[in-house]
Amino acid sequence: MTSKLQPIRGTHDLLPEWYGGEFEKFESITLLARELATVYGFKEMATPIFEMTDVFARSMGETSDAVSKEMYSFETKGGESVTLRPEFTAGIVRAFLSNGLQQHLPLKLFCTGPLFRYERPQKGRQRQFHQVNYEIIGDASVHADIEAITLAAHLIYFFDRKVTLHINTLGDKESRERYRSVLVEYLQRHETSLSEDSRRRLQLNPLRILDSKNEGDKRIIADAPKMGASLSVASRTRFDAMMNHLQEQAKSHLFPKGGIVVNDTLVRGLDYYTDTVFEFISSDEEMGSQNTVLAGGRYDGLVEHMGGKPVPAIGFAAGIERLMLMYTPEKKPIAPIYLIPIDAEGESAAHLQALVFRSYERSRKTHLQVRAIDILWNGTLGKRIGRAAERGASHVILLGGEELKRNACIVKNLNTGEQAEMSLMPETIQRFIQETA
Ligand code: HAM
Repeated sequence: MTSKLQPIRGTHDLLPEWYGGEFEKFESITLLARELATVYGFKEMATPIFEMTDVFARSMGETSDAVSKEMYSFETKGGESVTLRPEFTAGIVRAFLSNGLQQHLPLKLFCTGPLFRYERPQKGRQRQFHQVNYEIIGDASVHADIEAITLAAHLIYFFDRKVTLHINTLGDKESRERYRSVLVEYLQRHETSLSEDSRRRLQLNPLRILDSKNEGDKRIIADAPKMGASLSVASRTRFDAMMNHLQEQAKSHLFPKGGIVVNDTLVRGLDYYTDTVFEFISSDEEMGSQNTVLAGGRYDGLVEHMGGKPVPAIGFAAGIERLMLMYTPEKKPIAPIYLIPIDAEGESAAHLQALVFRSYERSRKTHLQVRAIDILWNGTLGKRIGRAAERGASHVILLGGEELKRNACIVKNLNTGEQAEMSLMPETIQRFIQETA
């Protein structure tokens, strides 16, 4: 007996809407994100789905959950440790260095595709998931922060009204070191009450304790010293200047209705962040606990840390699966057209006629907006018309008989039952279909 093959836990097939799936929804989010990237002056690039393990381990932080618990790593036949990418940023910085892109600064880069994290699957959290990811590399000014956050808000605008922008600064190196020692001193006093995970992090990565979801930890964290008090003058000035610009931007209707919250416990899970960090969090019940739809921040030290000269950068990524939970597509799919050959002559003409219609359709529309044009070969006429109606067709084209001899066909409107003879001209037929759909 053979057992039934199962998909890997935390992965999903994306089926077409016709067969009950959400592929079109997924694809239209990707297209929307790509369009926004273009209007904001970003260029799309792609990195490999796997990299040397070091690319992620070194950049995201050995003690981050993403590296210590969630990486899909394996040894190749050549004995190298490679990892399926858990995020885009580290791979992009690796590509930036491998390809000598320093000479093109500043860069605006867009990426999309699948990512892999060995997390406990639940609604909005998968082991294979997808992001749309934007990076601005080579601009240290607060204007890059505003540009990134404005773009993020603009993207979220298309999805949900119940989103709040949480923002914080981790400060420069000096601020972070000062805060680290104040925080460790405080947490050490409460060490015995901390969760095991947090006790482990106390020496390795104490800032991450602020992110803990453990209830006991949360009570201790509530009274912990705040990051703001440890900020250097330069970091404080930078953050205030950025917030002033941001408050201006937020007057736009494109900014989330939930407003902006300065959240001084927001630290983010990855080690490379410096200064500005932000998250767009949805209060929509549909989202459940995985309600961070978009997240990012500045990572001014990462390029140097990965072996380059110091280059400032900021970016963010949104999870497509999470965006899908908030998304109601505006556009209805375009009704397909079916050619139905009604006799042997019609059958011989159908392939060529379909080619003419398809090439006309392709020439006038862009991807996803094109209409499907298909041929229904089998079954009685009634069955085939029924089949076309089930698939959402508003019209069918009957091919054969006397009409075909005259280089014409019958176009039947499935909504009204009316039909008309028309010459076999794709322009004429499609105009008629559009006007009478
Ligand atoms: P991140 O916070 O790890 O940041 O992920 C960004 C977004 O990806 C999350 O807010 C969420 O929407 C989505 N996401 C993460 N893990 C999963 C999962 N297991 N299933 C479904 N969705 C998920 C980063 O990845 C950074 N590289 C973002 C960035 C770009 N920072 C600077 N540049």
